[in-house]
Amino acid sequence: MAANRVKGTYDVLPSESYKWVALETKIREILSLYNLKEIRTPMMEYSNVFHRDSEGSDMVTKETYDFVDRSNRALTLRPEGTAGVIRSYVENKLYASQELEKVYYIGPNFRYERPGKGRYRQFSQFGVEAIGTVDPALDAEMIILAYDFIKRLGLKGVKVRVNTLGDQESRDRYQEALVKHFTPHIHELCEDCKNRIDKNPLRILDCKIDYKHESVINAPTPLDLLNDASRAYFDEVKSHLEMCGIDYVIAPKLVRGLDYYSHTVFEIEADIKGFGAANVLGGGGRYQKLVSELGGPDLGGIGFAFGMERLLMALEANHIELNEDVEVDCFVITFSKELKKIGTKILYDLRQENFVSDMNYTAKSFKGQLKQALRFNSKYLIILGDEEYARGVVGIKDTKTEIQEEIKIENITAYIKKKMEK
Ligand code: HAM
Repeated sequence: MAANRVKGTYDVLPSESYKWVALETKIREILSLYNLKEIRTPMMEYSNVFHRDSEGSDMVTKETYDFVDRSNRALTLRPEGTAGVIRSYVENKLYASQELEKVYYIGPNFRYERPGKGRYRQFSQFGVEAIGTVDPALDAEMIILAYDFIKRLGLKGVKVRVNTLGDQESRDRYQEALVKHFTPHIHELCEDCKNRIDKNPLRILDCKIDYKHESVINAPTPLDLLNDASRAYFDEVKSHLEMCGIDYVIAPKLVRGLDYYSHTVFEIEADIKGFGAANVLGGGGRYQKLVSELGGPDLGGIGFAFGMERLLMALEANHIELNEDVEVDCFVITFSKELKKIGTKILYDLRQENFVSDMNYTAKSFKGQLKQALRFNSKYLIILGDEEYARGVVGIKDTKTEIQEEIKIENITAYIKKKMEK
Protein backbone atom coordinates (compact mmCIF):
# COMPACT_ATOMS: atom_id res chain seq x y z
CA MET A 1 0.00 0.00 0.00
CA ALA A 2 1.34 3.40 -0.91
CA ALA A 3 1.51 5.61 2.14
CA ASN A 4 0.29 9.11 1.40
CA ARG A 5 -0.30 12.03 3.68
CA VAL A 6 -3.92 12.79 4.60
CA LYS A 7 -5.68 15.26 2.30
CA GLY A 8 -5.25 18.82 3.56
CA THR A 9 -2.13 18.04 5.61
CA TYR A 10 1.53 18.67 4.80
CA ASP A 11 4.99 17.69 5.97
CA VAL A 12 7.48 20.21 7.27
CA LEU A 13 10.66 18.83 5.73
CA PRO A 14 14.07 19.13 7.41
CA SER A 15 15.10 21.85 4.96
CA GLU A 16 12.08 23.98 5.95
CA SER A 17 11.69 23.30 9.66
CA TYR A 18 14.09 26.05 10.71
CA LYS A 19 11.52 28.59 9.47
CA TRP A 20 8.98 27.21 11.93
CA VAL A 21 11.49 27.27 14.75
CA ALA A 22 12.45 30.86 13.88
CA LEU A 23 8.80 31.98 13.76
CA GLU A 24 8.00 30.30 17.06
CA THR A 25 11.07 31.87 18.67
CA LYS A 26 10.04 35.28 17.39
CA ILE A 27 6.49 34.79 18.72
CA ARG A 28 7.75 33.87 22.20
CA GLU A 29 10.17 36.80 22.17
CA ILE A 30 7.48 39.35 21.28
CA LEU A 31 4.79 37.91 23.54
CA SER A 32 7.04 37.96 26.58
CA LEU A 33 7.18 41.76 26.19
CA TYR A 34 3.46 41.76 26.90
CA ASN A 35 3.83 39.63 30.03
CA LEU A 36 2.03 36.63 28.55
CA LYS A 37 2.58 33.06 29.71
CA GLU A 38 2.20 29.96 27.61
CA ILE A 39 -0.67 27.52 28.13
CA ARG A 40 -0.73 24.05 26.55
CA THR A 41 -4.06 22.29 26.31
CA PRO A 42 -4.91 18.93 24.68
CA MET A 43 -5.53 18.58 20.97
CA MET A 44 -8.74 16.69 21.71
CA GLU A 45 -11.57 17.71 23.99
CA TYR A 46 -15.00 16.33 24.80
CA SER A 47 -17.17 17.36 21.87
CA ASN A 48 -19.42 19.62 23.96
CA VAL A 49 -16.50 22.02 24.54
CA PHE A 50 -16.96 23.05 20.89
CA HIS A 51 -20.51 21.92 20.16
CA ARG A 52 -22.26 24.27 22.52
CA ASP A 53 -25.89 25.30 22.06
CA SER A 54 -24.97 28.82 21.05
CA GLU A 55 -22.31 27.86 18.54
CA GLY A 56 -23.93 27.60 15.13
CA SER A 57 -20.99 28.66 12.99
CA ASP A 58 -20.03 26.57 9.96
CA MET A 59 -16.70 25.86 11.56
CA VAL A 60 -18.33 24.13 14.51
CA THR A 61 -21.38 22.57 12.82
CA LYS A 62 -19.78 21.34 9.59
CA GLU A 63 -16.03 21.33 9.86
CA THR A 64 -15.03 19.58 13.07
CA TYR A 65 -13.36 16.17 13.25
CA ASP A 66 -15.70 14.39 15.63
CA PHE A 67 -15.22 10.80 16.68
CA VAL A 68 -16.19 8.29 19.31
CA ASP A 69 -13.33 6.67 21.23
CA ARG A 70 -13.12 3.02 22.26
CA SER A 71 -15.12 3.76 25.41
CA ASN A 72 -17.86 5.55 23.50
CA ARG A 73 -16.87 9.04 24.51
CA ALA A 74 -17.75 11.77 22.02
CA LEU A 75 -14.50 13.62 21.29
CA THR A 76 -13.47 16.38 18.89
CA LEU A 77 -10.08 17.40 17.54
CA ARG A 78 -9.83 21.07 18.38
CA PRO A 79 -10.76 23.32 15.44
CA GLU A 80 -9.39 26.39 17.26
CA GLY A 81 -7.67 27.23 20.51
CA THR A 82 -10.04 29.49 22.44
CA ALA A 83 -12.69 27.03 23.67
CA GLY A 84 -10.09 24.57 25.01
CA VAL A 85 -8.19 27.35 26.78
CA ILE A 86 -11.40 28.55 28.42
CA ARG A 87 -12.30 24.97 29.40
CA SER A 88 -8.91 24.75 31.11
CA TYR A 89 -9.31 28.20 32.70
CA VAL A 90 -12.61 27.11 34.21
CA GLU A 91 -11.60 23.56 35.16
CA ASN A 92 -8.40 24.73 36.87
CA LYS A 93 -10.19 27.71 38.47
CA LEU A 94 -7.56 30.11 37.20
CA TYR A 95 -10.01 32.94 37.91
CA ALA A 96 -9.61 32.33 41.64
CA SER A 97 -5.98 33.46 41.81
CA GLN A 98 -5.86 36.28 39.27
CA GLU A 99 -8.24 38.96 38.15
CA LEU A 100 -6.82 38.78 34.65
CA GLU A 101 -5.15 35.76 33.08
CA LYS A 102 -3.13 36.53 29.96
CA VAL A 103 -1.94 33.47 28.06
CA TYR A 104 -0.72 32.41 24.64
CA TYR A 105 -0.61 29.09 22.82
CA ILE A 106 0.96 27.62 19.71
CA GLY A 107 -0.20 24.38 18.13
CA PRO A 108 -2.15 22.39 15.56
CA ASN A 109 -5.90 22.62 14.90
CA PHE A 110 -8.16 20.58 12.64
CA ARG A 111 -10.96 21.69 10.35
CA TYR A 112 -12.64 19.67 7.62
CA GLU A 113 -12.46 22.49 5.06
CA ARG A 114 -11.86 22.40 1.33
CA PRO A 115 -8.07 22.53 1.14
CA GLY A 116 -6.59 25.37 -0.92
CA LYS A 117 -3.92 28.02 -0.83
CA GLY A 118 -3.31 28.78 2.85
CA ARG A 119 -6.22 26.53 3.86
CA TYR A 120 -5.46 23.13 5.37
CA ARG A 121 -7.26 20.46 7.36
CA GLN A 122 -4.47 20.44 9.91
CA PHE A 123 -3.00 23.89 10.46
CA SER A 124 -1.20 25.67 13.26
CA GLN A 125 -2.22 28.76 15.13
CA PHE A 126 -0.59 30.94 17.66
CA GLY A 127 -3.18 32.67 19.78
CA VAL A 128 -3.56 34.91 22.77
CA GLU A 129 -6.36 35.12 25.36
CA ALA A 130 -6.83 37.71 28.12
CA ILE A 131 -9.53 36.35 30.41
CA GLY A 132 -11.34 37.77 33.44
CA THR A 133 -11.60 41.50 32.82
CA VAL A 134 -13.85 43.64 30.65
CA ASP A 135 -12.09 46.88 29.84
CA PRO A 136 -11.78 48.72 26.52
CA ALA A 137 -8.07 49.21 27.31
CA LEU A 138 -7.65 45.44 27.16
CA ASP A 139 -9.47 45.21 23.80
CA ALA A 140 -7.09 47.89 22.54
CA GLU A 141 -4.08 46.05 23.96
CA MET A 142 -4.98 42.92 22.00
CA ILE A 143 -5.29 44.88 18.75
CA ILE A 144 -2.04 46.70 19.51
CA LEU A 145 -0.30 43.40 20.18
CA ALA A 146 -1.49 41.89 16.90
CA TYR A 147 -0.42 45.06 15.05
CA ASP A 148 2.94 45.22 16.82
CA PHE A 149 3.59 41.57 16.07
CA ILE A 150 3.06 42.09 12.34
CA LYS A 151 5.21 45.21 12.41
CA ARG A 152 8.05 43.43 14.18
CA LEU A 153 7.93 40.61 11.63
CA GLY A 154 8.52 43.28 8.99
CA LEU A 155 5.37 42.47 6.98
CA LYS A 156 4.25 45.26 4.70
CA GLY A 157 0.83 46.02 3.20
CA VAL A 158 -1.04 44.74 6.24
CA LYS A 159 -4.44 46.08 7.22
CA VAL A 160 -5.94 45.98 10.71
CA ARG A 161 -9.73 45.91 10.37
CA VAL A 162 -11.76 46.64 13.48
CA ASN A 163 -15.48 46.55 14.25
CA THR A 164 -17.87 46.07 17.15
CA LEU A 165 -20.93 43.88 17.57
CA GLY A 166 -21.89 45.73 20.74
CA ASP A 167 -23.23 44.18 23.95
CA GLN A 168 -25.98 41.56 24.11
CA GLU A 169 -28.76 44.13 23.78
CA SER A 170 -27.14 45.68 20.69
CA ARG A 171 -26.50 42.24 19.25
CA ASP A 172 -30.15 41.26 19.75
CA ARG A 173 -31.29 44.49 18.09
CA TYR A 174 -28.95 43.82 15.21
CA GLN A 175 -30.22 40.26 14.79
CA GLU A 176 -33.79 41.55 14.66
CA ALA A 177 -32.83 44.12 12.04
CA LEU A 178 -31.16 41.41 9.97
CA VAL A 179 -34.23 39.17 10.10
CA LYS A 180 -36.38 42.10 8.93
CA HIS A 181 -33.90 42.91 6.19
CA PHE A 182 -33.42 39.37 4.87
CA THR A 183 -37.02 38.06 5.12
CA PRO A 184 -38.18 39.52 1.75
CA HIS A 185 -35.10 38.04 0.01
CA ILE A 186 -34.82 34.72 1.77
CA HIS A 187 -36.18 32.67 -1.16
CA GLU A 188 -33.25 33.99 -3.28
CA LEU A 189 -30.64 32.77 -0.80
CA CYS A 190 -29.06 29.31 -0.38
CA GLU A 191 -30.56 26.48 1.68
CA ASP A 192 -28.16 27.10 4.57
CA CYS A 193 -29.13 30.78 4.71
CA LYS A 194 -32.83 29.81 4.77
CA ASN A 195 -32.06 27.99 8.05
CA ARG A 196 -29.76 30.68 9.31
CA ILE A 197 -32.44 33.38 9.28
CA ASP A 198 -34.20 31.73 12.25
CA LYS A 199 -31.24 30.25 14.04
CA ASN A 200 -28.46 32.75 13.48
CA PRO A 201 -29.03 35.54 10.93
CA LEU A 202 -25.52 36.96 11.50
CA ARG A 203 -24.09 33.93 9.74
CA ILE A 204 -25.78 34.97 6.46
CA LEU A 205 -23.25 37.78 6.28
CA ASP A 206 -20.30 35.44 5.90
CA CYS A 207 -22.03 32.83 3.75
CA LYS A 208 -19.52 31.45 1.26
CA ILE A 209 -22.27 31.15 -1.41
CA ASP A 210 -24.39 34.27 -1.02
CA TYR A 211 -21.74 36.84 -0.15
CA LYS A 212 -22.26 38.62 -3.49
CA HIS A 213 -26.06 38.77 -3.24
CA GLU A 214 -27.35 42.34 -3.20
CA SER A 215 -29.23 41.83 0.06
CA VAL A 216 -26.00 40.71 1.74
CA ILE A 217 -24.08 43.65 0.32
CA ASN A 218 -26.75 46.11 1.49
CA ALA A 219 -27.42 44.54 4.87
CA PRO A 220 -27.43 46.82 7.94
CA THR A 221 -24.22 46.85 9.96
CA PRO A 222 -23.86 46.35 13.72
CA LEU A 223 -22.74 49.98 14.03
CA ASP A 224 -26.22 51.09 12.93
CA LEU A 225 -27.80 49.42 15.96
CA LEU A 226 -25.43 49.99 18.85
CA ASN A 227 -26.87 51.17 22.15
CA ASP A 228 -25.18 54.08 23.93
CA ALA A 229 -23.12 51.98 26.29
CA SER A 230 -21.72 49.88 23.44
CA ARG A 231 -20.95 52.96 21.37
CA ALA A 232 -19.10 54.50 24.33
CA TYR A 233 -17.17 51.25 24.85
CA PHE A 234 -16.10 51.18 21.21
CA ASP A 235 -15.14 54.88 21.24
CA GLU A 236 -12.88 54.15 24.18
CA VAL A 237 -11.20 51.25 22.35
CA LYS A 238 -10.59 53.50 19.34
CA SER A 239 -9.17 56.32 21.43
CA HIS A 240 -6.60 53.92 22.93
CA LEU A 241 -5.59 52.82 19.44
CA GLU A 242 -5.28 56.40 18.28
CA MET A 243 -3.14 57.28 21.28
CA CYS A 244 -0.57 54.74 20.05
CA GLY A 245 -0.88 55.75 16.40
CA ILE A 246 -2.13 52.31 15.37
CA ASP A 247 -2.95 52.28 11.69
CA TYR A 248 -6.40 50.64 11.60
CA VAL A 249 -9.60 50.90 9.58
CA ILE A 250 -13.19 50.49 10.71
CA ALA A 251 -14.77 47.56 8.86
CA PRO A 252 -18.54 47.98 9.48
CA LYS A 253 -19.40 44.59 7.94
CA LEU A 254 -16.87 42.55 9.88
CA VAL A 255 -18.76 40.06 12.10
CA ARG A 256 -16.25 37.12 12.16
CA GLY A 257 -17.04 33.47 11.69
CA LEU A 258 -17.54 32.32 15.28
CA ASP A 259 -20.61 32.86 17.40
CA TYR A 260 -19.00 33.68 20.70
CA TYR A 261 -18.11 37.28 19.90
CA SER A 262 -19.61 40.50 21.26
CA HIS A 263 -18.18 44.02 21.43
CA THR A 264 -14.82 44.35 19.66
CA VAL A 265 -13.89 42.15 16.70
CA PHE A 266 -10.87 42.52 14.44
CA GLU A 267 -8.92 40.92 11.62
CA ILE A 268 -5.44 41.33 10.22
CA GLU A 269 -5.33 41.19 6.46
CA ALA A 270 -2.29 41.03 4.20
CA ASP A 271 -2.45 42.49 0.74
CA ILE A 272 -0.61 39.73 -1.07
CA LYS A 273 -1.32 38.92 -4.71
CA GLY A 274 -2.84 35.52 -5.37
CA PHE A 275 -3.63 34.79 -1.74
CA GLY A 276 -7.43 35.07 -2.13
CA ALA A 277 -9.25 34.22 1.10
CA ALA A 278 -5.91 33.30 2.71
CA ASN A 279 -5.28 37.06 2.90
CA VAL A 280 -6.63 36.96 6.44
CA LEU A 281 -3.60 36.24 8.59
CA GLY A 282 -5.41 36.40 11.90
CA GLY A 283 -8.43 37.58 13.78
CA GLY A 284 -10.13 37.72 17.11
CA GLY A 285 -12.48 39.52 19.38
CA ARG A 286 -14.17 39.79 22.74
CA TYR A 287 -16.33 37.00 24.13
CA GLN A 288 -18.63 37.55 27.07
CA LYS A 289 -20.50 34.26 27.47
CA LEU A 290 -17.92 31.60 26.69
CA VAL A 291 -16.59 31.31 30.26
CA SER A 292 -20.05 30.86 31.76
CA GLU A 293 -21.15 28.53 28.95
CA LEU A 294 -18.26 26.27 29.87
CA GLY A 295 -19.33 26.19 33.51
CA GLY A 296 -17.35 29.13 34.88
CA PRO A 297 -18.32 32.43 36.44
CA ASP A 298 -19.74 35.34 34.47
CA LEU A 299 -16.42 36.69 33.17
CA GLY A 300 -15.46 38.01 29.77
CA GLY A 301 -12.32 37.60 27.74
CA ILE A 302 -10.72 38.75 24.53
CA GLY A 303 -8.17 37.18 22.24
CA PHE A 304 -7.01 36.52 18.72
CA ALA A 305 -5.20 33.89 16.69
CA PHE A 306 -2.89 33.96 13.68
CA GLY A 307 -2.47 31.11 11.19
CA MET A 308 1.20 30.10 11.23
CA GLU A 309 1.18 28.75 7.65
CA ARG A 310 -0.24 32.04 6.40
CA LEU A 311 2.34 34.02 8.36
CA LEU A 312 5.12 31.96 6.76
CA MET A 313 3.56 32.47 3.31
CA ALA A 314 3.35 36.22 3.93
CA LEU A 315 6.97 36.33 5.09
CA GLU A 316 8.03 34.52 1.95
CA ALA A 317 6.01 36.85 -0.28
CA ASN A 318 7.72 39.79 1.45
CA HIS A 319 11.15 38.12 1.01
CA ILE A 320 11.72 38.13 4.76
CA GLU A 321 14.02 35.49 6.26
CA LEU A 322 13.58 35.41 10.02
CA ASN A 323 16.66 33.34 10.54
CA GLU A 324 19.16 31.53 8.41
CA ASP A 325 19.27 27.77 8.62
CA VAL A 326 21.66 26.60 11.34
CA GLU A 327 25.23 26.54 10.09
CA VAL A 328 27.47 23.64 10.90
CA ASP A 329 30.71 24.63 12.66
CA CYS A 330 32.69 21.47 11.97
CA PHE A 331 32.24 18.67 9.48
CA VAL A 332 34.36 15.55 9.87
CA ILE A 333 35.49 13.73 6.72
CA THR A 334 36.80 10.19 7.11
CA PHE A 335 37.25 7.32 4.74
CA SER A 336 37.23 3.99 6.60
CA LYS A 337 35.12 2.16 9.17
CA GLU A 338 37.98 2.24 11.64
CA LEU A 339 38.45 5.97 11.28
CA LYS A 340 34.74 6.63 11.64
CA LYS A 341 35.10 5.53 15.25
CA ILE A 342 37.72 8.25 15.73
CA GLY A 343 35.35 10.61 13.90
CA THR A 344 32.57 9.76 16.36
CA LYS A 345 34.87 10.65 19.27
CA ILE A 346 35.92 13.93 17.61
CA LEU A 347 32.24 14.85 17.12
CA TYR A 348 31.43 13.95 20.72
CA ASP A 349 34.22 16.22 22.03
CA LEU A 350 33.23 19.11 19.74
CA ARG A 351 29.58 18.88 20.74
CA GLN A 352 30.55 18.90 24.41
CA GLU A 353 31.91 22.37 23.71
CA ASN A 354 28.65 23.33 21.95
CA PHE A 355 30.00 23.35 18.41
CA VAL A 356 27.42 22.31 15.81
CA SER A 357 29.15 19.28 14.31
CA ASP A 358 28.39 16.48 11.91
CA MET A 359 29.98 13.93 9.61
CA ASN A 360 29.02 11.91 6.62
CA TYR A 361 27.78 8.38 7.17
CA THR A 362 27.30 7.11 3.64
CA ALA A 363 29.34 8.78 0.87
CA LYS A 364 32.68 7.14 0.31
CA SER A 365 34.39 9.66 -1.97
CA PHE A 366 36.00 12.83 -0.70
CA LYS A 367 34.05 14.78 -3.31
CA GLY A 368 30.68 13.47 -2.09
CA GLN A 369 31.52 14.27 1.51
CA LEU A 370 32.80 17.72 0.62
CA LYS A 371 29.60 18.46 -1.26
CA GLN A 372 27.53 17.65 1.79
CA ALA A 373 29.76 19.72 4.09
CA LEU A 374 29.35 22.73 1.81
CA ARG A 375 25.60 22.26 1.61
CA PHE A 376 25.54 22.66 5.41
CA ASN A 377 27.68 25.83 5.15
CA SER A 378 30.26 24.12 7.36
CA LYS A 379 32.91 26.52 8.67
CA TYR A 380 35.65 23.91 9.19
CA LEU A 381 36.38 20.60 7.55
CA ILE A 382 38.19 18.09 9.72
CA ILE A 383 39.88 15.64 7.36
CA LEU A 384 41.01 12.36 8.82
CA GLY A 385 42.77 10.03 6.37
CA ASP A 386 44.79 6.86 7.07
CA GLU A 387 48.07 8.60 6.54
CA GLU A 388 47.17 11.48 8.90
CA TYR A 389 45.84 9.07 11.50
CA ALA A 390 49.10 7.14 11.46
CA ARG A 391 50.81 10.37 12.46
CA GLY A 392 48.12 11.28 15.07
CA VAL A 393 46.95 14.36 13.20
CA VAL A 394 44.05 15.68 11.12
CA GLY A 395 43.86 18.36 8.45
CA ILE A 396 41.56 21.25 9.44
CA LYS A 397 40.44 23.43 6.57
CA ASP A 398 38.79 26.81 7.00
CA THR A 399 36.20 26.81 4.19
CA LYS A 400 36.22 30.60 3.91
CA THR A 401 39.97 31.27 3.68
CA GLU A 402 40.68 27.80 2.24
CA ILE A 403 43.72 27.61 4.53
CA GLN A 404 44.41 24.10 5.80
CA GLU A 405 46.48 23.30 8.88
CA GLU A 406 47.65 20.08 10.44
CA ILE A 407 46.53 19.68 14.04
CA LYS A 408 47.13 16.91 16.59
CA ILE A 409 43.98 14.87 17.20
CA GLU A 410 43.95 15.69 20.92
CA ASN A 411 44.15 19.42 20.14
CA ILE A 412 41.21 19.62 17.69
CA THR A 413 38.65 21.06 20.12
CA ALA A 414 41.08 23.60 21.58
CA TYR A 415 42.07 24.68 18.06
CA ILE A 416 38.44 25.15 16.94
CA LYS A 417 37.64 26.99 20.17
CA LYS A 418 40.47 29.43 19.56
CA LYS A 419 39.48 29.94 15.93
CA MET A 420 35.81 30.50 16.77
CA GLU A 421 36.67 33.05 19.46
CA LYS A 422 38.17 35.23 16.76
P1 HAM B 1 -10.33 32.10 13.16
O1 HAM B 1 -10.56 33.36 12.40
O2 HAM B 1 -11.24 30.98 12.92
O3 HAM B 1 -10.31 32.49 14.68
O4 HAM B 1 -8.84 31.60 12.87
C1 HAM B 1 -7.72 32.44 13.07
C2 HAM B 1 -6.72 32.27 11.95
O5 HAM B 1 -6.36 30.88 11.80
C3 HAM B 1 -7.23 32.66 10.58
O6 HAM B 1 -7.15 34.05 10.38
C4 HAM B 1 -6.27 31.90 9.67
O7 HAM B 1 -5.04 32.60 9.53
C5 HAM B 1 -6.01 30.64 10.44
N1 HAM B 1 -6.82 29.54 9.90
C6 HAM B 1 -8.11 29.25 10.17
N2 HAM B 1 -8.51 28.16 9.47
C7 HAM B 1 -7.44 27.76 8.76
C8 HAM B 1 -7.18 26.68 7.84
N3 HAM B 1 -8.13 25.78 7.55
N4 HAM B 1 -5.95 26.58 7.28
C9 HAM B 1 -4.99 27.47 7.57
N5 HAM B 1 -5.15 28.50 8.43
C10 HAM B 1 -6.36 28.64 9.02
C11 HAM B 1 -10.15 31.63 15.71
O8 HAM B 1 -9.73 30.51 15.56
C12 HAM B 1 -10.41 32.22 17.06
N6 HAM B 1 -10.21 31.16 18.06
C13 HAM B 1 -9.54 33.42 17.32
C14 HAM B 1 -9.77 33.99 18.68
C15 HAM B 1 -8.99 33.83 19.76
N7 HAM B 1 -10.83 34.70 19.05
C16 HAM B 1 -10.72 35.01 20.33
N8 HAM B 1 -9.62 34.46 20.79
